[in-house]
Amino acid sequence: MKRTTGRDRDRTRRWRPATQAIRGGTLRSDQLEMSEAIFATSGYVYDCAEDAAARFKGELPGFTYSRLSNPTVAMLEERLCLIEGAEACRATASGMAAMTAALLCQLNAGDHVVAGKTMFGSCRWLVDSLLPRFGIETTVVDGPDTAAWAAARRPNTKVFFLETPGNPLLDIIDLAAVIPLAHEAGARVVVDNVFATPIFQRPLELGADVVAYSLTKHVDGQGRVLGGAVLGSQAFVADTLLPFLRNTGPTLSAFNAWVLLKGLETLDLRVRKMAASAQTVAEHLAARGLDVLYPGLPSHPQHALAMRQMSAGGTVMALRLPGASAEAFALLNALELIDISNNLGDSRSMITHPWTTTHSGLPEDTRRAMGITEGLVRLSVGLEDPADLTDDLDQALGAVGL
Ligand SMILES: Cc1ncc(COP(=O)(O)O)c(C=O)c1O
Repeated sequence: MKRTTGRDRDRTRRWRPATQAIRGGTLRSDQLEMSEAIFATSGYVYDCAEDAAARFKGELPGFTYSRLSNPTVAMLEERLCLIEGAEACRATASGMAAMTAALLCQLNAGDHVVAGKTMFGSCRWLVDSLLPRFGIETTVVDGPDTAAWAAARRPNTKVFFLETPGNPLLDIIDLAAVIPLAHEAGARVVVDNVFATPIFQRPLELGADVVAYSLTKHVDGQGRVLGGAVLGSQAFVADTLLPFLRNTGPTLSAFNAWVLLKGLETLDLRVRKMAASAQTVAEHLAARGLDVLYPGLPSHPQHALAMRQMSAGGTVMALRLPGASAEAFALLNALELIDISNNLGDSRSMITHPWTTTHSGLPEDTRRAMGITEGLVRLSVGLEDPADLTDDLDQALGAVGL
């Protein structure tokens, strides 16, 4: 295995994210391949039994088993570390594997978690249904209400878990204000940074302890594979996260890691273009008189905070339509270009009805308390020409009388 400049952190840390996302962490084999190799292997061999023992002890560098680590996956992990400004990263098979591991690896029966109320449906399920089954208490607060986070703390609070902007309502949590509240209570902060992407928001710089991703979204961003990642300090990853991951096995495959590496190469370009188009589309829809929730619009309740905390409004917005599911369905069905899909962060624009899809697994009162209604739709803006997107939205809105 030839180590290249991509492995020299003193050098790669000085690069900007767009460079890091292309060249960071490269591990070239003796073939000196240009594009990263797919190490499609479950295991590794040793020159002698002593080497096997030394590798297991960590005294000899190298891989032992792909549930624990794999060269292709390791390249992705190092690249993600660099663009996030994290010390360490572990990739997982999906975003939900990352969120579950980030929480369960550090929680015990008798602990308490405070979570923001707006989050992806499966993340809310972790908080409302899974953690309590293991004797972990949870309190859900209105994320933008900083005082609510302070008031929810208890002596046994171990984790603040939050998503900002939140899925699907795009509400913003004040990281600089909320993170110290957790630390005062001796708790860690786990941020699901999927909506913001590492390009627009860097929670670790604001003091967050752990950042977790669905790489399925913007990092692949082309509808091909699932993946996830958990990032944090070397101590957290090595001592707390790794024992959980290596023994439970939510491992990312080498092939999927390779696809995600290819996605990372264009992440910076894609999300900047998508966010610029989202801003255009949001302004267009707001000018039509629609109720648009988008952090980049001055009408967003936390617009000033969003613009302080993020360098752009992101790629996703929500629309509150008059009427219920039938009216929302009519709009989705009238679109000719924008796909009906529950994914987001993709190069193809997609529209979702959270009430009946991404958040349908949550009880009705939970959805209502989150602010999700039958008339809410979520729009993820892709890489198409924004004029084609506004044309499509205009014709569909016209067709349904809006
Ligand atoms: C904010 C957020 N977090 C986590 C996930 C879960 O990711 P995955 O589908 O890769 O498991 C999603 C998926 O929609 C999401 O939107």
